Amino acid sequence: MIEMGLVQMLQSGTGHSASLRMEVTLFFPLLLLICSHSTAQPQPESDNDLTPVGDNQTRQPANVSLATSTCPQDIHAVLREMSGLLGEQRVELRHLQQENDAQAAKLRELEKLQRELGKLSQQVKEQAGELTAIKAGTNVTEHQVEALRRDTEVKRVAFTAALASDRTTIGPFNTDTNLVFRQVITNIGNAYNPNTGSFTAPVKGVYHFELHIAAHGHPSYPSSAWLVRNGHVICIAYEHQPSYFGSSANGVTLLLEVGDVLFLRLQTNARVFDNEHNHSTFSGHLLFTM
Ligand SMILES: *[C@@H]1O[C@H](CO)[C@@H](O)[C@H](O)[C@H]1NC(C)=O
Ligand SMILES: *[C@@H]1O[C@H](CO)[C@@H](O)[C@H](O)[C@H]1NC(C)=O
Ligand SMILES: *[C@@H]1O[C@H](CO)[C@@H](O)[C@H](O)[C@H]1NC(C)=O
Ligand SMILES: *[C@@H]1O[C@H](CO)[C@@H](O)[C@H](O)[C@H]1NC(C)=O
Repeated sequence: MIEMGLVQMLQSGTGHSASLRMEVTLFFPLLLLICSHSTAQPQPESDNDLTPVGDNQTRQPANVSLATSTCPQDIHAVLREMSGLLGEQRVELRHLQQENDAQAAKLRELEKLQRELGKLSQQVKEQAGELTAIKAGTNVTEHQVEALRRDTEVKRVAFTAALASDRTTIGPFNTDTNLVFRQVITNIGNAYNPNTGSFTAPVKGVYHFELHIAAHGHPSYPSSAWLVRNGHVICIAYEHQPSYFGSSANGVTLLLEVGDVLFLRLQTNARVFDNEHNHSTFSGHLLFTM
């Protein structure tokens, strides 16, 4: 019981004043206990006698004086033993105090490290944010470069196609008929489709178109074709003579939207001729984008 009490006291003790008070409060109940044993007059012991924490210290002197009056002669031997014990406790307390100081220093060191860690993690967060921003910026740059590349590509648009490669007369028909210029001479940007005869604007811009329509003369049949944009007539190339050979031409500059469709349409009752010399042609060029 005594040793357990001591250990408890040693473990709970902090600071010099606390350890001194502890020694005093320990001393009296111990002395009382020993005296009680040595007089061979067992008294009921309560735990309170060995647990000074919260004990009312004002009563101690009364109990001590009571105990002293019943102590035997060898009280000095007991006291020596006690003071030896107390000396050991002081040493142990100092040791504990040193350990306590060392741990407090370690704790301060740890707190410092924790603060530094916090700062570092904050920095890492900030840098991650910056990295994301940089990545996004790179992405934007890549997209701009790609857009510029596409832009440059679609800026190259030019075509010329002839109606036929060998002797051919188309018409007359009793209705307007779309013409397909199948002999591609130039088709930069592939905006002209030689299977349908249609040109589709790949980019908004200003374009120039030309149509050259040739045919043998005939009393009843003129030579004529419309340039048609999105189903609406823009201009015509027309010529009518009763004999020999004739050709007509027209040209126009147009502001087109992306996807605008243009083609040539043979007029009702008209004829158009071509051979390997490319008499009848349809041309278009992008002048500049808008
Ligand atoms: C200590 O004793 C005083 C006087 O006897 C009393 O007023 C007080 O309540 C006691 N305190 C405790 C914690 O027992
Ligand atoms: C100490 O003395 C008080 C009164 O003086 C008494 O009530 C108490 O029981 C005593 N304690 C012991 C352990 O003798
Ligand atoms: C880049 O941009 C594209 C399209 O805007 C998007 O799909 C992609 O997730 C972006 N990449 C990054 C790394 O932001
Ligand atoms: C007519 O165009 C074709 C391409 O479709 C070409 O091969 C040919 O040489 C051209 N004819 C003449 C006379 O220029």
